[in-house]
Amino acid sequence: MCGIVGYLGPRSAQSVVIEGLRRLEYRGYDSAGIAVLSDGELATRKKAGKIANLDAELLSNPIPEAGIGIGHTRWATHGGPTDQNAHPHVSADGRVALVHNGIIENFAQLRQKLEARGMEFTSETDSEVAAQLLGVELAKGVGLVEGMHTVANTLNGAFTLVAVDRDDPDRVVAARRNSPLVVGVGEGENFLASDVAAFIEFTREAIELGQDQIVEITRDAVVVTTFDGAEAEVRPYHVDWDLAAAEKGGYDWFMRKEIYEQPQAIADTLLGRIAPDGSLQLDEIHITDNELRRVTKIVIVACGTAFYAGMVAKYAIEHWTRIACEVEIASEFRYRDPIIDPNTLVVTISQSGETADTLMAVRHAREQHAKVIAICNTNGATIPRESDAVIYTHAGPEIGVASTKGFLTQVVACYLLGLYLAQVRGTKFGEEIREVMHELQTMPEKVQRVLDDIQPMLDLAQEFSERPSVLFIGRHVGFPVALEGALKLKEISYLHAEGFPAGELKHGAIALVEPGLPIFVVVPPKGRDQLHDKVISNIQEVRARGAYTIVLAEDDDLEVEPYSDVVFRLPKVPTLLQPLVATVPLQMFACELATQKGYDVDQPRNLAKSVTVE
Ligand code: G6P
Repeated sequence: MCGIVGYLGPRSAQSVVIEGLRRLEYRGYDSAGIAVLSDGELATRKKAGKIANLDAELLSNPIPEAGIGIGHTRWATHGGPTDQNAHPHVSADGRVALVHNGIIENFAQLRQKLEARGMEFTSETDSEVAAQLLGVELAKGVGLVEGMHTVANTLNGAFTLVAVDRDDPDRVVAARRNSPLVVGVGEGENFLASDVAAFIEFTREAIELGQDQIVEITRDAVVVTTFDGAEAEVRPYHVDWDLAAAEKGGYDWFMRKEIYEQPQAIADTLLGRIAPDGSLQLDEIHITDNELRRVTKIVIVACGTAFYAGMVAKYAIEHWTRIACEVEIASEFRYRDPIIDPNTLVVTISQSGETADTLMAVRHAREQHAKVIAICNTNGATIPRESDAVIYTHAGPEIGVASTKGFLTQVVACYLLGLYLAQVRGTKFGEEIREVMHELQTMPEKVQRVLDDIQPMLDLAQEFSERPSVLFIGRHVGFPVALEGALKLKEISYLHAEGFPAGELKHGAIALVEPGLPIFVVVPPKGRDQLHDKVISNIQEVRARGAYTIVLAEDDDLEVEPYSDVVFRLPKVPTLLQPLVATVPLQMFACELATQKGYDVDQPRNLAKSVTVE
């Protein structure tokens, strides 16, 4: 994530940039910074924490008045949320200031090369490499645009870069690959930003940059080229959202926006984790391979939605690694004297990294000398800090209280951990791991397809807004999906909703079924085992008792049709990966139903995004 702003024009660059950053703070608030060019000097100010900290810094240490500036609000990925790691980064010769959003996959190799030539780095970020490389290019005597072309073609991964050159105060130059950037076109002034919210107050005329494009703004012109140096076609458009809507990217709720961000969030979580030879690389696991080989038991500990991600993980990790895996609610784990020892691997999952129950579980596990790996979305949070290792999900900030992209990326991170353990312990052949990794990389596209075809779920939500109760059933990994579907509905629609293992219905819950009761059924893909057919039998059982069945089944599964009132089609994926596509329609159903009921979807009653009390 991260938010970026660039400005060139007659206004005060400081006020345009800082106000723009404030509107982009939803994209990250680990640190904020600004750089301006004034009278041949480059001045920067940056501070860890929210923009309010930068405001205070600018009050005590004012920055010169200027008409050109860039700024950044950070969602930390590489390097903790500190002043040093805050952007803008300045090249060693003090000439270039640069801000970055994304992940530069080959930064370690590039940094090594630069260090070997004697360059000193001042931060732990991947981004500083781009600033230093651009400085090196400009020192050869080339212009900012040409230098940016060279740098963009040197980097791998995802990046929006925006830079200014102290010796060229009439130009701001940016590059875009896999991270967003829009140009705001004004009269005698131009803007750059991660999202139109940053400049909508000044202009509603915008140009969306395409993939692998470089843009140069001056006061009166916008010139866009491709990374190859060819002239690029630009798509100008008029923004007709108001300011409030713009912060949510035009969506009515952050939750809906975050649901739509899931394809990108999954792609970002996978980014940089596959080595060129196709093997899995999790550099952040600072637990040795020998220690991982000694693990005799895995215990996953989490709360809420993260707990359901852990339930999905259990199926995958046990299947791939053959290590016994338990999943436990964090508030229960701590107080039941769990059996853990130095050969137990405790995996905690927490979007915020601050949930008190999960944190207590980390402390308890470490007291018992277990190794702890945190799966977390918030760089530098307490849980990852107190764990032996961390796998960050790169979902970007999640603002809606009900977790959506947090969940899908937690599931992806758990898959990565399972596959990595299988690789280290040799329980899966390289070829099999590569196959799953290949499947995983197709998931952003498949989740996108679910979102593109979502309309029937929205229609259903309208129809169901007055129902008192909804059930969800599934088997295997479909069971945690059912639980998560029910939780979303409870959290934001205040409806009675329950998730059950489909096979367990006949031991009690089927007594709840009466004519018209809506039941969502997650149908597994047809496979070698009997799972699919067993779920079909379960649908028949509830249908026979009058339930209204909404069936989530893969594209060519025709067997479900006679027993379904509504079929929602899912792209074909392997069983273990199905939660990534099957959860999305349930999230959208809940979001739409709560909207229909007129509830505050982003801030539901009685709940908090991060529960920091036990
Ligand atoms: C709260 C939130 C849930 C979240 C849970 C765990 O209850 O409302 O959406 O799943 O905490 O949060 P964590 O940050 O640890 O994933």
